Amino acid sequence: MPDTVRLNELPEWAALAKHRAELGGTHLRELFGADPGRAERLTVRVGDLCLDYSKHLVTDDTLGLLRDLAAARGVAELRDAMFRGEKINITERRAVLHTALRAPRDAVIEVDGENVVPEVHAVLDKMTRFADSVRSGAWTGATGKAIRTVVNIGIGGSDLGPAMAYEALRPYTARSLDFRFVSNIDGADLHEAIRDLDPTETLFIVASKTFTTIETITNATSAREWLVAGLGGDESAVAKHFVALSTNAKEVAAFGIDTQNMFEFWDWVGGRYSYDSAIGLSLMIAIGPERFREMLAGFRTVDDHFRTAPPEANAPLLLGLLGVWYGAFFDAQSHAVLPYSHYLSKFPAYLQQLDMESNGKYVDRQGRPVAWQTGPVVWGTPGTNGQHAYYQLLHQGTKMIPADLIGFARPVAELSPSLAAQHDLLMANLFAQGQALAFGKTAEEVRGEGVPEEQVPHRTFPGNHPTTTILAAELSPSVLGQLVALYEHKVFVQGAIWDIDSFDQWGVELGKVLAKRVEPALTEGADVPGLDPSTATLVATYRAARGR
Ligand code: F6P
Repeated sequence: MPDTVRLNELPEWAALAKHRAELGGTHLRELFGADPGRAERLTVRVGDLCLDYSKHLVTDDTLGLLRDLAAARGVAELRDAMFRGEKINITERRAVLHTALRAPRDAVIEVDGENVVPEVHAVLDKMTRFADSVRSGAWTGATGKAIRTVVNIGIGGSDLGPAMAYEALRPYTARSLDFRFVSNIDGADLHEAIRDLDPTETLFIVASKTFTTIETITNATSAREWLVAGLGGDESAVAKHFVALSTNAKEVAAFGIDTQNMFEFWDWVGGRYSYDSAIGLSLMIAIGPERFREMLAGFRTVDDHFRTAPPEANAPLLLGLLGVWYGAFFDAQSHAVLPYSHYLSKFPAYLQQLDMESNGKYVDRQGRPVAWQTGPVVWGTPGTNGQHAYYQLLHQGTKMIPADLIGFARPVAELSPSLAAQHDLLMANLFAQGQALAFGKTAEEVRGEGVPEEQVPHRTFPGNHPTTTILAAELSPSVLGQLVALYEHKVFVQGAIWDIDSFDQWGVELGKVLAKRVEPALTEGADVPGLDPSTATLVATYRAARGR
């Protein structure tokens, strides 16, 4: 990475700025009109995914200039350093090796001179044995009953990944088991998750990389109290009802979980990149070890593609560059992810952490404030629901919001024929939205329909809203792995270009420290030094409402 020449001082940046000015208000209608081969040319395939990026405000020149920028920023070199296990997370001096989590058994990937692949597979094998025993009923609770409900307690990367993937792969899950995910420090979350459960048939998975996260440890402590009380005060029952997923054996033992029942991962796995590590244990129990490994193979397909595909056909590189283009030269502030799949309802929330915790940074890798936009606000919900809520703004608002439309050719196999028949209508909506966003509807077309003149502007659609359409035959475990890896590497590309450390998350620390400091003011009315007047007044109002 060049550390002296800054992004916006590069000739490649200046060339893009000039090109952007020349492009002006060129409309997608013109780009398509002038180029009949555009859709076919601007489609890339990776694994089972087909990505159509022809509805972007780019020409072949734009794409060439963006690739030049990537070359100038050393994206490929940083990528190779990541895959080799170099410590590219500079502020935490850590390797960034989520890709090792899905490496084949015979791969060699070294951190500090040690091959990490054998440990990865040893943990996967241990997870497999445990998942099989829970699924078969061989693993029993303290009273000898099989487990019926698995409750994952974790937050951030220790919740969003498994919760999202469980939802995404529901048709592949063991329907005889029930899975719940508790993350919020709000006691209501745990209450709702366990209120109807029988402790004798419940397994808690405490998922925390650090095992010091206050939300998780507090919820896990409450869950343990509930369990022990429900089992007549028998503390020894914990061993049969609690397992831990963590990098921190010391804290796991201190919490009272036998480290025999701990599934390990390592500091070179970032929390938001961890659901294919031991953090995915709940998912593995749900879908079974074989499906879990299919998912890992899906991740690997995109890892291999990212490492080896030429820049012109490299899907994560392309997606990353398109985001850089809109942020820098169209002032796009946000990016919408719009899955046309009920099963992907948690995918945008998962991507929020992946993208925003990675690239929500204001200083470069040398600590200098950046003079360019970094990560966008990522948001979205399943598409058809969004159509009846915020798509109005996408079509006729004043904001530039690039969007990803994600859909699948086949409905899931277990739908009844009449429900499966709804699938064409679902996908018709996806295709219609991509078309409407790109091409809009001109005033002439509106007038041609006999609309009164005063209504014409209101019923005109400017179009020119860029989208990527991502299609696959079906949402299988492998395809989910491919999708997640695609976004992981997209985020990587953008961080590399923006010259930021995508793998630390110092921005979450201040709030955690202040919450600890403020709590005694709420509970005891303690005089907390440094409380600003606004917060002090709010605390007083809170205490009054609580009758304190
Ligand atoms: O507060 C942010 C964060 O550190 C995330 O990066 C992480 O995924 C989450 O908290 C949970 O951390 P842990 O797995 O250590 O409990």
